[in-house]
Amino acid sequence: MPAITAPSIAPQQEVLNHLAPEVEGLVTRHLEKRNLWMPSELLDEGDRDQLREAARGLPEAARAGLALNLLTEEGLPHFHRLIAVHMGEDSIWNRWNNIWTAEEDRHGCVLRDYARDSGIFDMAALERLQYAYLEAGFNPDWGRDPYKLLAYTSLQEKATQRAHGNLARLAAATEPRLQHILSRIAGDESRHHVFYRDAFAMVLCADPEHALRAAWAVMPNLAMPGHTIPGYNQLSDVVRAAEIYGPMDYCNIVSDLLGSWGIAAARGLSSRAEQLQDKLMALPRRLERFAEVVAKRRPAMPDLDFDFLPRAPA
Ligand SMILES: [Fe+2]
Ligand SMILES: [Fe+2]
Repeated sequence: MPAITAPSIAPQQEVLNHLAPEVEGLVTRHLEKRNLWMPSELLDEGDRDQLREAARGLPEAARAGLALNLLTEEGLPHFHRLIAVHMGEDSIWNRWNNIWTAEEDRHGCVLRDYARDSGIFDMAALERLQYAYLEAGFNPDWGRDPYKLLAYTSLQEKATQRAHGNLARLAAATEPRLQHILSRIAGDESRHHVFYRDAFAMVLCADPEHALRAAWAVMPNLAMPGHTIPGYNQLSDVVRAAEIYGPMDYCNIVSDLLGSWGIAAARGLSSRAEQLQDKLMALPRRLERFAEVVAKRRPAMPDLDFDFLPRAPA
């Protein structure tokens, strides 16, 4: 009986090695455009009383959204590992992984400082969810294919940008400081998205069939990083109902990415790649129908009964 072996990803690694100078260019462009800030510049320790007063006005759905955004950011160790494992540790990708990790780490820091200083959460209950998420791990089934990591991060960075940006808008009326913090984070996510989006575009040009296969493996059902958090489904219903992030956002992200990657216009493909092209181009309509079904089926705003959200005294 022949031995069962995992599919070889050697061609993908070779393509990535070949693209190293272009990726170097993307890293340089990112460093030129970024605006490096530090958590303590956005949230001064001396402001605590004023902060507690302002945060009191935050709607409960915004607090739940903030908890989910914070928990998602705190999954950073999983993503640093995934990038190192999929992209290798002795290339330009190692440099990018360290830059990206240092930038991302500030997101969890500043949101956690805000969560603690504002006094709007039961911090031990929130920390228990964070602990459970980190202990559960995040192990998407990518078969070590680096293209799948690039397709995933292109989508995920945009999804987090939307979640932080929409939450910033929701917080604006009562808490301009939180709006400012979230807007700065959303700006970082946007630049990360552009980096991954353009890296995947290079891969699509160099190796279209493998790239389209990776896109098709990842795009129809994006595994959200926090899906192992206890109560995640209830939390995602809340953020959808509060228009922070939901299936329609995902549909728009997929549609925009297919457009920027020029998937519909790609020519000279193998017949297998053409089939994948057709499937991908039919995906936004499918995701739109799913978003419509979800919007009809679920209650407008689910119960906000979370251990980390202390109830105001009656
Ligand atoms: Fe982030
Ligand atoms: Fe990011």
